[in-house]
Amino acid sequence: MGHVPDTITITDDRTGKSVTVPITDGVFPSSALRELDPSLFMYDPAYLSTAACKSAITFLDGDAGILRHRGYPIEQLAEHSTYLEVAYLLIHGELPSQQELDTWTYEITHHTFMHENMRKRFVDGFHYDAHPMGMFVSAIAALGTFYDDAKQLGDEESRDKQILRLIAKAPTLAAMCHRFSVGLPFFLPDNELSYAANFLTMMWKIGEYDVHPVLERAMDVLFILHADHEQNCGTTAMRVVGSSHADPYSSAAAAAAALYGPLHGGANEQVVRMLGDIGSIDNVDEFVGDVKGGKGRLMGFGHRVYKNYDPRAQIIKQTAYEVFEVTGKNPLLDIALKLEEAALADSYFADRRLYPNVDFYSGLIYQAMGFPIEMFTVLFAIPRTSGWLAHWQELLGDEDQKISRPRQWYAGPEERDYVKLSER
Ligand code: ACO
Repeated sequence: MGHVPDTITITDDRTGKSVTVPITDGVFPSSALRELDPSLFMYDPAYLSTAACKSAITFLDGDAGILRHRGYPIEQLAEHSTYLEVAYLLIHGELPSQQELDTWTYEITHHTFMHENMRKRFVDGFHYDAHPMGMFVSAIAALGTFYDDAKQLGDEESRDKQILRLIAKAPTLAAMCHRFSVGLPFFLPDNELSYAANFLTMMWKIGEYDVHPVLERAMDVLFILHADHEQNCGTTAMRVVGSSHADPYSSAAAAAAALYGPLHGGANEQVVRMLGDIGSIDNVDEFVGDVKGGKGRLMGFGHRVYKNYDPRAQIIKQTAYEVFEVTGKNPLLDIALKLEEAALADSYFADRRLYPNVDFYSGLIYQAMGFPIEMFTVLFAIPRTSGWLAHWQELLGDEDQKISRPRQWYAGPEERDYVKLSER
């Protein structure tokens, strides 16, 4: 076979003009279109075929079910690493030395406290039954107003400081939102505890409380699994808002708002509600039939990028069994297992390449650990903060990037004359 060129040639049949550009790693520059005709645009709703950035953070092969951070497979990170080490890896690009990890852990641990006004004036101002994720989204933005230096994006030291603050304060804020929503007094961070143990303690401590080491590790593994997932909806929101040089707190609030949606980070909440509605393994077949008939979706199944088993779902399933050893089995597990089995054996799901995603089992673990359903998306947002910030930092250092500003395909009326209200 002759040499196959790594190029693509696009011909504009209206003018006969052609342009040839290189294909690198399966990507070609859209500037080819501008060369042909500067007024020509590609119509790509939801960015199905558009790479909006170059990124060196996370590699994902949805067909093969591969996920790697900075080259390291997620399975190895989940087995051997800790969330704070993974956060360091995402932000700095390399695994830390012992000394770097110690300094990083010390710095994060010593930025976990929040300004008193955040709780007393801001969080306490919410309606008594406010959804903790709604509180979290707005509180992240509000947090930025406490730091004068948050807007100094050109100053690397200041950027590093905001990164530390956001990663450190995310669990404090999350626990604060929960305790407010259930009317419990807030419990201050404890610098002697690990990141995960500190969070669990702030969540649950009333009188004596010692974190069970299995639950501490499970929480940390769940944090690792949710830390980053390349250009998902929330991370894209972080990059789009960050591209206007908004401060990182405002950008992270936008990312958290995107995560709040039921098609994104809100899915695990929907999974548990769905399993509760199904109610019994006897109803699984009927439910699957309803989904196939167009009555709703099988939540926790399907993914824009994974057309195979989500590798995180495999690890989470294993973690679920470890947690249930301590907490007792979540009664919804049997329904979930039967549902997974029924869906995987069904051609509707197989033909559409719909497999369990990260959210299918995570909600069951969270519920067994005592988290109310409303906290599930908040639990996702805590570790995803490090992923958002890694992308934000990469964006600011990327000379190819400008303010995000997609084009549109105008489909509205032609010019027409204004009609006075009395004549309409
Ligand atoms: N249940 C039933 N059918 C589904 C599901 C599902 N969960 N997901 C997709 N489909 C079907 C669609 O109806 C469509 O069928 P059609 O071709 O006959 O019309 C086909 O599969 C393709 O679906 P799309 O909606 O085009 O896929 P898309 O990539 O846009 O959606 C998404 C991905 C949003 C994740 C979707 O699979 C979904 O809604 N899943 C349920 C929600 C969920 O679990 N979200 C969590 C994602 S992971 C995360 O955000 C961390």
